[in-house]
Amino acid sequence: MKIYIAKDFFQLSKKAAEIIQDAISEKPDLVLGLATGSTPLGTYKELIRMHKEEKLDFSRVISFNLDEYYPISPENKQSYFYYMKHNFFRHININPENIHVPDGQAEDAESHCKVYEAEIRRHKGIDLQLLGIGENGHIGFNEPDDEIEVLTHLTKLSESTLRANSRFFDSKEKVPCQAITMGLGSIMKAKKILLLASGIKKAEIIAKLLTEQKATTNIPASALLLHNDVTVLLDEEAAGIYKMKIKNQFSEG
Ligand code: GLP
Repeated sequence: MKIYIAKDFFQLSKKAAEIIQDAISEKPDLVLGLATGSTPLGTYKELIRMHKEEKLDFSRVISFNLDEYYPISPENKQSYFYYMKHNFFRHININPENIHVPDGQAEDAESHCKVYEAEIRRHKGIDLQLLGIGENGHIGFNEPDDEIEVLTHLTKLSESTLRANSRFFDSKEKVPCQAITMGLGSIMKAKKILLLASGIKKAEIIAKLLTEQKATTNIPASALLLHNDVTVLLDEEAAGIYKMKIKNQFSEG
């Protein structure tokens, strides 16, 4: 696991966008896994700048989003489809046919999940997966639990996620209580993973993840410790407790 600590959110976003830019330059038909939430917003902004000013070409890129609320319509401003369209897709030259976001209106969610997983396979898997992390250690919407769901599935959101995500909705009651998410297995099959964490709210979970070095279903992101190509990009705030802990480890040893 490579750990990179950036000075601030802007530098973190710049570094993440550069990694994605390099991957697209190396493989113009990159299969790119995408995330939502506040953390990747700066990365999308920088990628849009690269597209406009440096001609970064997305025409052959194939994208798969991690998750979507369920049920939700794509016109709902809180849907991840709406988020992706307005914060990224409509500003770049990605081919709409190459965009994949789980369908928050699928009549039969279970079979939709199977089709989504098969589509990823048809494209020979994800080359580079961008990830954020929930305050409770979730990735995508893989919530802490006793068991791990391996493939794309319909899931119930945890109380802590409903609370955290209610900031985007009028109230906690308006947050859909289910979501379609890639499973930990779908994520772990990505060839390369880029995990972003920014801000003080993520400091505790990041320190736990990086110092304890234990894989547990109570921290879904800890599965990433088993992957052989993960880059963790933090800003100073998210890295705060981790940096303190490793410093103490050295002074104790
Ligand atoms: C949401 C998404 C996750 C995201 C997480 C963190 O629940 N399903 O994919 O990583 O929240 O969001 P933020 O970046 O806003 O902290």
